[in-house]
Amino acid sequence: MTKVGTSYWERYYAEHGAPEEPSLFAQYVVEKMYVDERQDLVELGCGNGRDARFLAAQGLSVLAIDQCVGEIGNLSNGMTHGENLAFKAEDFTELPDYVGGFDAVYSRFTLHSVKAEDQRRTLQWAERNLRENGRLCIETRGQKNEIYRLGAPVEGEPDAFIYEGHYRRFVDFDGFVEQVSDTGLSIVEAAEDIGFAPFEDTDYHFIRVIAQKQAELDQFLIL
Ligand SMILES: C[S@@+](CC[C@H](N)C(=O)[O-])C[C@H]1O[C@@H](n2cnc3c(N)ncnc32)[C@H](O)[C@@H]1O
Repeated sequence: MTKVGTSYWERYYAEHGAPEEPSLFAQYVVEKMYVDERQDLVELGCGNGRDARFLAAQGLSVLAIDQCVGEIGNLSNGMTHGENLAFKAEDFTELPDYVGGFDAVYSRFTLHSVKAEDQRRTLQWAERNLRENGRLCIETRGQKNEIYRLGAPVEGEPDAFIYEGHYRRFVDFDGFVEQVSDTGLSIVEAAEDIGFAPFEDTDYHFIRVIAQKQAELDQFLIL
């Protein structure tokens, strides 16, 4: 099934020179050692692959997923990297469980592209597919974001709008933190603030959440 925004992003990557340098978020998760070189990471919604390439260059094994078949085809064809980076065209809200799982599930600017129900299922998938002590690293657009409520409301979806021809659902920060916690993951840090993703002359608010899957022993001790 074609998901919300697929044709928008296919067109975008075909027409625009998307940034090649890694996002500040990718650099942040490396600097803070939320991920490290011996680990397996899956990126949900990798776009032009800039963060996936950066993370693979740090020595992580990266599986980078995006719904854009054309862009993923280009990225896979042009691969000059080693075996620690693979691109796959899939809908990240409908992924199967992966045997062995991942040390990190990383997703930047993607959860606001999917419906609320798809977000809930994706978070549950992340919890199931993280190894013990594995980390969920999310950056997304929330309701403090400066373009919240601009454009046409989407019927039946509170907080979703079509603005400049593009669907966005603005994530409720408190509800999101609660939803992540409800999956069983522990919040390591969570904020909705400026400074995360300045772009050109703007510095809008975005949500950053890092959560961790507790080792079973830790869960036992907390109980
Ligand atoms: C704003 S771009 C962000 C790209 C990249 N994470 C970055 O920060 O540069 C959002 C990306 O998420 C992808 N995406 C959105 N919903 C998706 C879904 N359900 N499954 C797979 N990819 C999806 C889009 O195709 C697009 O490439």
